[in-house]
Amino acid sequence: MRMKPLIIGDLTVRVPIIQGGMGVGISRSNLAGAVAREGGIGIISTAQIGYDEPDFDNNQIETNLLAIKKHIDKAKEIAEGGIVGVNIMVATKQYERYVRAACEAGADVIISGAGLPISLPDMVKGCKVKIAPIVSSMRATSVILKMWDRKYHRTADFIVVEGPHAGGHLGFSKEELENIDEIDFDREIKEIVKYKRAFEEKYQTNIPVVAAGGIFDQNDIKHALELGANGVQIATRFVVTEECDASPEYKQAYLDAKEEDIRIVISPVGMPGRAIANGLLKKVGEGKLPIEKCFHCLSHCNPKEAPYCITKALINAVRGNIEEGLLFCGDNVYRLKEMTTVKAIFEELVF
Ligand SMILES: Cc1cc2nc3c(=O)[nH]c(=O)nc-3n(C[C@H](O)[C@H](O)[C@H](O)COP(=O)(O)O)c2cc1C
Repeated sequence: MRMKPLIIGDLTVRVPIIQGGMGVGISRSNLAGAVAREGGIGIISTAQIGYDEPDFDNNQIETNLLAIKKHIDKAKEIAEGGIVGVNIMVATKQYERYVRAACEAGADVIISGAGLPISLPDMVKGCKVKIAPIVSSMRATSVILKMWDRKYHRTADFIVVEGPHAGGHLGFSKEELENIDEIDFDREIKEIVKYKRAFEEKYQTNIPVVAAGGIFDQNDIKHALELGANGVQIATRFVVTEECDASPEYKQAYLDAKEEDIRIVISPVGMPGRAIANGLLKKVGEGKLPIEKCFHCLSHCNPKEAPYCITKALINAVRGNIEEGLLFCGDNVYRLKEMTTVKAIFEELVF
């Protein structure tokens, strides 16, 4: 068995590996550009992407919108013709403006999760960007494909199907994640692969399925392809590369993490996420951390009620303030043993 290129409309992705978007600041131009140069798709996370720009403290949204262009341009330069996209969470405050900024900056793809991107087709009208929802169930897939069909007379350019072993926000309940072995995610992928065929026929196109969550080695990729996926999305493994945009301390925290250090945390918007145990999680477990300033990140967050500020925690993390940071990770983080490069990961994974 050999990997086949991932065909997304008129885009041919030589290596069917997408590097998952990682916010805040973990996947920006450097990592995404390096992945794209190796023949995969490099994904920049737009979550508070301008966190280190001079005007960020005063005007987060405008600063982020400018930083989207800056990082897409830079990633494309590094990519030498490779494919660069963005991850924009549906839960982002002023989501539509982020989508427009990414379109105008020439993103090749937009991947959108943390909510269902119901109106995304409308927002990208007139732009040749490819769009993909992130889904975690057959039910969410059917809602989105039916909605896009009925309201916009179009379908997805590809679908990212993210399972319970992933990092970042997860599309499963805390109870489901506590009984993770009972989740039959293979079945979910197979059903989605079968389900999308009717939309492929109707729109005379291919809708590749990209499996995500816990993919670590060639065997995991082969397994996903055997289930009918056309490619994979991998995030955690790319953190401990020289090219990753996080601080050296963040990468070291990944290398130091043991299996028993991995926790499920509830983000201020009520969604579960996976992270490495540290001082911040301990404090959150003991009670609320007062929020002094709102950075306007997520539309459903109420700073008066939230248990902590997720932007502040994620910025602490990317900057290397490990004890006070939120260290999102996939559940195979403890298997990472050494720093590497994007090139070396591709050499290891491509077959
Ligand atoms: C540090 C980190 C941050 C992440 N941030 C985001 C994000 O901002 N938006 C999103 O949709 N997914 C996010 N994810 C999920 C990844 O894009 C990816 O789909 C998932 O982690 C894949 O599983 P893996 O990490 O086991 O390879 C994040 C993952 C990690 C590890």
